[in-house]
Amino acid sequence: MMEQMVAVVTGGTRGIGLGIAKTLVKQGASVAVTYKEDDAAARKAKDQMENLIDEKQEVLLLKGDAGDPEAVKEHHREVHDKLGSVNVLVNNAGIMFKKSFEELTISDWDNTIRINLSSAFYWSAQVIPGMKNQKYGRIVNIASVAARGPSVLGPHYAASKAGLLGLTKFAARDLGSFGITVNAIAPAFIEDAGIFAEWSDEQRASLKDKVLVPQIGNVEDVVRAFEYLLYSPFVTGVTLDVNGGVFMI
Ligand SMILES: NC(=O)c1ccc[n+]([C@@H]2O[C@H](COP(=O)([O-])OP(=O)(O)OC[C@H]3O[C@@H](n4cnc5c(N)ncnc54)[C@H](OP(=O)(O)O)[C@@H]3O)[C@@H](O)[C@H]2O)c1
Repeated sequence: MMEQMVAVVTGGTRGIGLGIAKTLVKQGASVAVTYKEDDAAARKAKDQMENLIDEKQEVLLLKGDAGDPEAVKEHHREVHDKLGSVNVLVNNAGIMFKKSFEELTISDWDNTIRINLSSAFYWSAQVIPGMKNQKYGRIVNIASVAARGPSVLGPHYAASKAGLLGLTKFAARDLGSFGITVNAIAPAFIEDAGIFAEWSDEQRASLKDKVLVPQIGNVEDVVRAFEYLLYSPFVTGVTLDVNGGVFMI
C-alpha cells in the first residue's frame, strides 16, 4: 500500500491520468496532479479525489505547462514543500492531434515533443535525487502504441512516444541500483480518454474491428497495468502494451 507516499501525475485531471491518480489516492498516497488549462475538469477531479482520501492524505492541483521546465521546477518545489519528497511519478500529460508530414508545422512538431517527451525528462530530473536518497521510486511513462509502429496520428506523435521508450530504458538502467524502477505503458484505443471520449458510440464501435478481442480498452485497463508496475520491484525497463492485441512484439 502507498500510505505516507507522495505521487505526481502529470495531466491528471481527465482520462488515463485521472484514473491513475484516483487509484493512487485509494492506495493511501497523497497525490499532486498537474493540468494545463481546463479549470472545470480540474475542480471536478479534485472533488472526486477528495471523496476518497482520509485525514492523513492530501490532494494538490497544479496548473501549468508540463512542457515548460520552469513551470515544472516551480510545481516540484510546491509538491516538495506541501507533500514531501516524491516517491511515484507518472509522466502522462500529452497532446494528440492528427497531421501528415505536409501539414505539420515546426511549431506543431516542437510543441508535441516538448509536451509529450521533454516533460517526462523535466519531471524525472526533479524527482530522481529525492528517490535516490530514499532508495525507492516508481516512474511510469505513458507512451502509446504509436511508439511501436507507424502512427495513425503522424510523425510528431510517433516520435514523441518512441522517445519516451528510449528515456524509459536508459533511466531504468541508470536507476535500478537505487531501488527505482522505470517503466512505460503503451495504450491504444482507450474509449473513455482523450480524443476517443468525444467520439460517438458508433465511431467507437468501428474501432472494435482493429483489435483481436471483442472490446476496445478503457481507463481501468491502463490503471490495472499501472498497479502491476507500482507493486513490481523486479520489473524495470519494460513497456506494457495495453492495446487489445493490435501490436505485438
Ligand atoms: N486515449 C487513448 O486512447 C490513448 C492512447 C495511447 C496513448 N495515450 C496517452 O495517454 C496519455 C493521457 O491521454 P488521455 O487520453 O487520458 O488524454 P486526455 O483525456 O486528453 O487528458 C489529457 C490530460 O493532460 C493534460 N495536459 C494536456 N496538455 C498539458 C500540458 N502541456 N501540461 C500539463 N498538462 C497537460 C490535460 O489537462 P488540460 O485539459 O487542462 O489541458 C488533461 O489533464 C497521453 O500521453 C496520451 O498520448 C492515450
